[in-house]
Amino acid sequence: MLTNPSSKYHPFPPVALADRRWPNRTITQAPIWMSTDLRDGNQALFEPMNAERKLRLFRTLCGIGFKEIEVAFPSASQTDFDFVRRLIDDALIPDDVTIEVLSHAREPLLRRSVEALHGARSAIVHIVNATSPPFCELVLGMSRAEVLTMAVKAVLLVKHLTAEQLQTQWRLQYSLETFTATELDFAVEVCDAVSAAWGATPDNKIILNLPSSVETATPNVYADQIEWMHRHIARRDSVILSVHPHNDRGTAVAAAELALMAGAERVEGCLFGNGERTGNVDLVTLALNLYTQGIAPGLDFSDIDAVVRDFEACTGLSVPPRQPYAGELVFTAFSGSHQDAIKKGFAAQQPGSLWNVPYLPFDPADVGRGYDAVIRINSQSGKGGIAHLLESHYGVVLPRRLQVEFSQVVQRHTDRHGGEIGAEQLWQLFAQTYLDVAQPLRYLGHQLFEHAQGQGIQLQIELDGEPHALIGVGNGPIAATIQALGSLGGAVSVCSYEERSTGSGGDAQACAFVELAAANGPTAYGVGMDGNIVTASIKALLGGCNRLTNHADFRQRRAIENEGFTAVSSPTAVNPTA
Ligand code: KIV
Ligand code: ZN
Repeated sequence: MLTNPSSKYHPFPPVALADRRWPNRTITQAPIWMSTDLRDGNQALFEPMNAERKLRLFRTLCGIGFKEIEVAFPSASQTDFDFVRRLIDDALIPDDVTIEVLSHAREPLLRRSVEALHGARSAIVHIVNATSPPFCELVLGMSRAEVLTMAVKAVLLVKHLTAEQLQTQWRLQYSLETFTATELDFAVEVCDAVSAAWGATPDNKIILNLPSSVETATPNVYADQIEWMHRHIARRDSVILSVHPHNDRGTAVAAAELALMAGAERVEGCLFGNGERTGNVDLVTLALNLYTQGIAPGLDFSDIDAVVRDFEACTGLSVPPRQPYAGELVFTAFSGSHQDAIKKGFAAQQPGSLWNVPYLPFDPADVGRGYDAVIRINSQSGKGGIAHLLESHYGVVLPRRLQVEFSQVVQRHTDRHGGEIGAEQLWQLFAQTYLDVAQPLRYLGHQLFEHAQGQGIQLQIELDGEPHALIGVGNGPIAATIQALGSLGGAVSVCSYEERSTGSGGDAQACAFVELAAANGPTAYGVGMDGNIVTASIKALLGGCNRLTNHADFRQRRAIENEGFTAVSSPTAVNPTA
């Protein structure tokens, strides 16, 4: 048991921003996206990507629509340096994509970074240094003034190194690492100093990036910090305010969304939340969250499975089954009540109208997923899901009471065998239960004939393997068949009858559903399928009788009362010509 946490942890102090505006704002447009997949994410992998994998992921990112991609930390490794060179030398960068490289604010590293970018059409040099007191003191061993001087000198050096290289359109990004733990007055002082040193103008904006390098507070605190900066930095029109939320508390997506309401214009993150520790903000979720609010995200995830495949192949990580929008199970309902609601929602959904399917906040088709996986059956599933699968895969629409009856059959099956049952297995179970029940009665053939009292039928069946010819008359084929079967000794009545067709054209099959009741006994459904509706109805009646006869209650009663279908030597005689 963890006790007394306050002796170890303190709540994050609130920001003094009484007139905060972000809570009343909504996001109305997509931010500028920057993918750090090839840097942070790559650093944090068990096995860093080799050049081929990096290139594959770079192409995937370009295909998704990222226009700014941080491709490497070239001063940190030869592999990263060579990768940047390859992109430039082999002209692998699309014209509308800007590559970015990260560097600490140290002269040799900055020189090497600019060298790596030589000849690029367009490039962002990204300088980072920590600014929070614990970092400045503990890690850098510097005062605030020294940190400020280091940042400005770094910017001036990059300005100098890039000034002569006119073939490249240079931009600068400056990140205050550990921004969320930095005193805001110092953060603004550093930001203003570096943007002045760069000479930022509305035509040559500097990117000021305010990361939650380690997420330590609720997302509203981050939003307050961003709004405070948005309102206090100088040359606001010459600055692109960028955020880079990490996910240590699991709220990176919320933090990014609130930060956008608070004035941020750009978001850095990774596909599926990859990155150091718990990762960077998940850009897929963020983009598709926007999409579900009716905002075009500017990133294309219309084939999410292809993105997952590339991501997994390149990083060696796997996307969990419950990952928003992308996981295998995120559009799947196993629970009966959910399935029932989804089935009704699908039925009511009109093409071209607003999406409104219960429990499915998002149309799976928008990320290239089909509806097949939406409803999956296990022991928690109910009649709605089962009926939906039979209808969507086999075109068989079950009457409601049959749905209830069959769902109990499915439940017994899944309780006994455990796990999940797919559409094909479900159909097999349905066929076994209703269509292939040919004992004790089996249909062999029939002929209808006119009779003065109504409809006559000559019925050929097998009873326990013995052929029988029966005759009956009624006000229609069903009543006539019931009467013919009555000659075998068992009394059943029809509680309900429904017929439908499945398939279309030459494949069309009639499907008859008959609910039968034994005298004072249980009820059971019979189902018949055939190209001919009368034959389908007779098969349904025979199937229902068989199921009643095989019903445990019925067997018991039959033993007592000698009920049931037994061969009789002289079936009721009806004159076919009468
Ligand atoms: O998390 C962080 O602070 C970073 C910086 C390099 C932006 O990754
Ligand atoms: Zn980071």
